[in-house]
Amino acid sequence: MPKLCIISGSGLSASAGLSTFRGPDGLWRNHDPMTLATPEAWQRDRHLVTEFYNERRAKAWQAEPTAAHRAIARLEEGFETTIVTQNVDSLHERAGSSRVLHLHGELDRVRDTADPNQRKDLHGAAVDPDEQTPGGGYWRPNVVWFGETIHHYDEALDAVASADRLIVVGTSLTVQPAASMMLYAADQAEKVVVNAEPLDLPEGFRFIQTPADEALPALAKQWLGHV
Ligand code: APR
Repeated sequence: MPKLCIISGSGLSASAGLSTFRGPDGLWRNHDPMTLATPEAWQRDRHLVTEFYNERRAKAWQAEPTAAHRAIARLEEGFETTIVTQNVDSLHERAGSSRVLHLHGELDRVRDTADPNQRKDLHGAAVDPDEQTPGGGYWRPNVVWFGETIHHYDEALDAVASADRLIVVGTSLTVQPAASMMLYAADQAEKVVVNAEPLDLPEGFRFIQTPADEALPALAKQWLGHV
């Protein structure tokens, strides 16, 4: 089976009602990431940070996979697919995709500050910022904050470099190292970028300026030869 890699960003989940980061109603337009999404912010105000992620987790848990998420899952009928996502929601998995690498972690998981191997899945539930963990620490969101190391980097890079086809969808390509991963795609790979707004792209990338919920089902139909 030919190999397909999808690099996805928050624009993919926008139509599910989840905020992007830099759009008109983006999260970072209405909140200062330095007070909510850094290890220092957690040290400074664990309750504020926990509350911010509790709200995002509840919203993400109530959201439904979009037509684009479902089209991406359908592409597994014809391609060995790896998803390299910047998103912390679980909409890819709930749409049926089987291999999802979360570069920036997962909203629905928390880990013990006293023992990073102690984790638990919340199934949308809120965390009590004062609940002590088995190791005597607190439960922090298992998301990657600014200044922290992204997850699955080597595995993700390998998926991009070995892909016969690459789709980059719903990302402003502004946060490194995720933004540069697409550059590791093979010259001969078919490379498509789907975004609502224009992007500066290197040579060799076909740009489709269309909402993901239209572009991805059309690509799936074209590449699978049926709906
Ligand atoms: N279809 C396609 N693209 C869309 C849609 C849509 N329906 N809606 C929005 N977009 C595009 C926007 O035009 C924008 O270019 O999605 C992109 C979203 O960009 P950002 O808000 O910057 O989100 P993202 O690229 O995922 O951010 C990367 O930044 O703060 C960190 O950890 C956070 O993972 C996030 C990372």
